[in-house]
Amino acid sequence: MTDLIDALGRIGLVPVVKVENTQQALGMASALLEAGLPCAEITFRTPAAEDCIRTIARDYPQIIIGAGTVLTAEQAERAVRAGARYIVSPGFDGHVVDWCLARHVPVMPGVATPTEILMALDKGISLLKFFPAEALGGVRMLEALAAVFGGVRFVPTGGVTATNLPDYLKLPSVFAVGGSWLVSGKLLAAGAFEEVTRLAREAVEIVAHARGHGGGQ
Ligand code: 3PG
Repeated sequence: MTDLIDALGRIGLVPVVKVENTQQALGMASALLEAGLPCAEITFRTPAAEDCIRTIARDYPQIIIGAGTVLTAEQAERAVRAGARYIVSPGFDGHVVDWCLARHVPVMPGVATPTEILMALDKGISLLKFFPAEALGGVRMLEALAAVFGGVRFVPTGGVTATNLPDYLKLPSVFAVGGSWLVSGKLLAAGAFEEVTRLAREAVEIVAHARGHGGGQ
């Protein structure tokens, strides 16, 4: 595991965001930094994703910026060229995974079943996005998977909120948690960056509390 991914694990929480333009991206980046949350996953769900990654990587190099919802190797390449430091996909795609592995780019494929976990392990990848976490059974499903796949660490994403965040963080198999509630499209569109800071600060406190204030793994 790289130092970068270690750092994500220490932070414990990755805001997953759909940004419409670079103005939103910059407002969000500054709001997250102010809350002490120096990371974000920019999803390839808008045409602006690549530009937003480039802008944040340039103006806020202290933020660990990843690209999410990467569905093709071509998108992975564009994301990395723009400055994304790791790649996340919602499911397991062999082309995306192989592209990243060949270039030593950290990649976190999404898994929802034991079979997909086996596919990832076959590629030597044991840090996996668990998506969509709540719809798949959330904490109970993760406990069942962890009982079988001892060496796997998960980043549950999808339906995570400030309310269920502590339950996920209690699980030893959970490396970090991802979620969009603190950087929702509504907040960004309204320019409500103070609210983003407030929610991010609250989330950082929840993580610290769930981990016994140690701030680490
Ligand atoms: C993702 O891409 O990881 C999810 O869409 C985030 O899920 P959420 O919006 O339920 O937090």
